[in-house]
Amino acid sequence: MARAKKVVLAYSGGVDTSVCIPYLKHEWGVEEVITLAADLGQGEELEPIQKKALASGASISLVENVQLEFVRDYAFPAIQANALYENRYPLSTALARPLIAKILVAAAHKYGADAVAHGCTGKGNDQVRFDVSIAALDPKLKVLAPAREWGMSREETIAYGEKFGIPAPVKKSSPYSIDRNLLGRSIEAGILEDAWQEPPEEVFAMTKAIGDTPDQPQYVEIGFDGGIPVSVDGENLDPVALIQKLNTIVGNHGVGRIDMIENRLVGIKSREIYEAPALMVLIQAHRDLESLTLPKEVTHYKQGIETTYAQLVYNGLWYSPLRQALDGFIKVTQEKVTGTVRVKLHKGTAQIVGRKSPYSLYSEDLATYTSADQFDHKAAEGFIYIWGLPTRVWSQIHSSTQN
Ligand code: ARG
Repeated sequence: MARAKKVVLAYSGGVDTSVCIPYLKHEWGVEEVITLAADLGQGEELEPIQKKALASGASISLVENVQLEFVRDYAFPAIQANALYENRYPLSTALARPLIAKILVAAAHKYGADAVAHGCTGKGNDQVRFDVSIAALDPKLKVLAPAREWGMSREETIAYGEKFGIPAPVKKSSPYSIDRNLLGRSIEAGILEDAWQEPPEEVFAMTKAIGDTPDQPQYVEIGFDGGIPVSVDGENLDPVALIQKLNTIVGNHGVGRIDMIENRLVGIKSREIYEAPALMVLIQAHRDLESLTLPKEVTHYKQGIETTYAQLVYNGLWYSPLRQALDGFIKVTQEKVTGTVRVKLHKGTAQIVGRKSPYSLYSEDLATYTSADQFDHKAAEGFIYIWGLPTRVWSQIHSSTQN
């Protein structure tokens, strides 16, 4: 029996998703395959991809530019949450998945499809993010994942495609698995699978090697309004232009590379290389501005929220009540996170060297060591007496057992 009648397939133009088209039709009895390529700022020509889908047997080939939505509704909330999975990965790939799922589901509704499909294999996080997001948006839609089931090797996949007029890749295909969008690049496989091997320079495309970066440092001023980045060096920019501009400036100084062993949701440890120049510096700058504008208790409490937030994005729970609840908390904390952060970029480093805000809670009068000091030193004595009281009592009772 056919798995579905009409399917909307998430399409990248690569061999795997191209082969999905004939595979769905000939092996799984699907009558009609509509492809959907999301323009997430991956810097690739999408018109040839659109043509390729039709040549591979798609009935309709859709391309949707969702860059603005991606930055505004997915990246910016993650920046407000300072979201770093395992304290390092800024979720550049993970954040795109719920958005792709959203437009897949919308297209399925528009064209009356009874299923959506994607080309993910069974080992990664992305299949989880797609399947769970789609189920959250429309629990009645079927999700098909041919590449998770077909069990073909790379060569077999290419050979299968050739039978249906899908040309084998012209260049000797890259040994790496690369996912790219406006926020960054994720690179896996090939020699990188050896965790001891330094990543070859060829894997990077958005960040320069230290040897090629300028000898002079560059200062960049990032303006935030309510926790959202709005300007670079005093110039107001729309969300997409802001990310593009910062990617160029920051990448030019070799900042934003990450090399880590990561714990996937499916339990595998994998060696991941990322580059996310703008996103990394934005999170660093945003966190710094929070240190100036948020009270101590909020900052400390928010750290736990941030860890949970990063985990849920990584684990495919974007469309979940938990994210909505955490977003509610984060939104309230961001109202006064307005101001400017000054970043010094040099030879692979980004240092915050200045910050200012109309809502700054930092008081020079209280912090100073000069005669302008307004802090009541006598009050400290009483405070310490009470603060240390439980410890003192404990020591009095247990003095013999202390070491
Ligand atoms: N490990 C990263 C994540 O789970 C990146 C996945 C990249 N995908 C790829 N096809 N290379 O978000």
